[in-house]
Amino acid sequence: YVIGIDLGTSAVKAILVDQNGQLCGEASRAYPLIQEREGYSEQDPSAWVEQTVNALAELVQQFEGRPEDIEGISFSGQMHGLVLLDAQHQLLRNAILWNDTRTTAECEEIKDRLGPLLLDLTKNPALEGFTLPKLLWVKRHEPDLFRQAAVFLLPKDYVRYALTGQLHMDYSDAAGTLLLDIAKKEWSDEICERVGVPKSLCPPLVESSDQIGTLSSYYATRTGLSSSVSVFAGGADNACGAIGAGILNDQQTMCSIGTSGVVLAYEPTALLDFKGKVHYLNHAKPGAYYTMGVTLSAGHSLSWFKDTFAPDQSFETLLAEVKDVPIGANGLLFTPYLVGERTPYADAMVRGSFIGMDSTHRLADFSRAVLEGITFSLKESLELFRAEGKVITSIISIGGGAKNEAWLQMQADIFDATIIKLSNEQGCALGAAMLAAYGCGWFDSLEACSEAFIQEAKRYEPIPENVTRYHALFALYQQVYPATK
Ligand code: XUL
Repeated sequence: YVIGIDLGTSAVKAILVDQNGQLCGEASRAYPLIQEREGYSEQDPSAWVEQTVNALAELVQQFEGRPEDIEGISFSGQMHGLVLLDAQHQLLRNAILWNDTRTTAECEEIKDRLGPLLLDLTKNPALEGFTLPKLLWVKRHEPDLFRQAAVFLLPKDYVRYALTGQLHMDYSDAAGTLLLDIAKKEWSDEICERVGVPKSLCPPLVESSDQIGTLSSYYATRTGLSSSVSVFAGGADNACGAIGAGILNDQQTMCSIGTSGVVLAYEPTALLDFKGKVHYLNHAKPGAYYTMGVTLSAGHSLSWFKDTFAPDQSFETLLAEVKDVPIGANGLLFTPYLVGERTPYADAMVRGSFIGMDSTHRLADFSRAVLEGITFSLKESLELFRAEGKVITSIISIGGGAKNEAWLQMQADIFDATIIKLSNEQGCALGAAMLAAYGCGWFDSLEACSEAFIQEAKRYEPIPENVTRYHALFALYQQVYPATK
C-alpha cells in the first residue's frame, strides 16, 4: 500500500491505495484561511502539519492490514505559498498563499529588475500569486523577519520537512517560485542577484519521485505508521493532478476544478514559447513539462456562493436543480473574479459580478450562473491553447467539477470537447500516491502505473445545439471583463 497526501487550500486529504490503485481508505481534515485584509490570504503551517498527522492517524486506524504493509508516502501541495524558516528551522510567520494578491508593487519591481530575463529563464511572468513577489514583500515590509530567514519552502515541503527532518523542494513546485531556470532545472544565480534574494534561501532540489527519507519516530508513533515507510518528494498539486489523471503525453489535456481551476496540457520540452500567456512549469514526471491557465476562484466561487446564500444546503442539494435551469441561467451571468484573476487577464484588482438579475431569478438560476461563469473562465484558458495551434478535442475532468453530471455536460458544451470522467478519481492525492508507487519500484514508469491505476468511467459529448448557444453566451461573457475592469 501507499499513501498520497493532498495538502489543499481548504483541507488536507490522505488516501491509501493498493497495488492496483484501488482506494482502501481516505481521511480529510480542514484548516482555516486567515484573511486579515482584502487581498491577504495566509495559513498557519503548523496547522497543516497537525491536520496532516490527524488525517494520517485516522487513515491508519481505518486500515485493517499491518502498518508495515504501507510502504510509501508522497505529497501533492497547493503551489507557490511562501513558508519562511529561520536558522533553527522555526517558522518565522504564517505562510502567504497562492491566492494572496498583496504583491502588485513587487511584481512591478521584478519586471523592472529582470526585464526579458524572467520570461527567458522561468517562462512565466511576474504574477502576484508566485513565490518570489512574496519574498520581496516580506523583505520590504518585514525586514527584520527577512534578515532572520535561512530557507524558504513551499507548503507541502514544510509538512514533509516536519515529518522527516529533511529540507527539499521538487522541480514541479520550484518552477512556481520564479527563481528556477526551468530548462536547466537549477536555481538562477542571476535572478537571485538581480532581485536581491540570497541564493542560500533556496532549498536543495529533487525530482518528485525521489525518496528523501523516512518518517521520524515521533511522527511514526503519532500516526501509527512504521518509521521505515519511504517518504517521496511529491509535487505541485496541478502536476500531481495531471499524474493522477494520466496526463503523461502531449495528446492529453486536463481540466481540474478545486479551489482554483486549471486547464493543463502536457509539454515534452521547455522549448516552446507561450510568451507567458499561460504558465509553463516542470512536470512531476521527471524531464517533462506542462502548460496551464488558472482561474483563481473556481471551486472557491461555488463554496463562497453556497456559504453566503445557502449555508444550510449541501453542494449536492444546491446543485440538484441546475440541470433543470436552461442554458444561460435565464439571463443571469456570473464572472468568478472574487480574488482577482490570473489567466488570461493577470489582474489582481478586478472583482466578480452577477449581471442581469431579474426578480424572477431563483437560487437555482444563480447556482447555474456560477457554474457557467467558472466554466467560461476556464474556456478562456482553453482558447489560449487553441490559439497557439493546439488541437484539443477531449479533456479529462477531475476535482469538484467532475462530481456533478450537469457540470460535466456543461464543460463538454462550453469547451466544445469530449469530457472524460475517470472512475475512482482521486485527483491530486492519487497523483501523489502514484509517485510513491513508482518511487517504491512497483512500476518501471509512471505510464505503467497510470495504466494500472487509472480507468475511464464515462464520456460526455458536446451537444451541437448547446455548443452554439454557449458560443454566443461566451462572447457576452468576454465583454464583462473590459467593462468591469
Ligand atoms: C497554480 C495555482 C493554484 C494552486 C492551488 O498556479 O496557483 O492552482 O496550485 O493549490
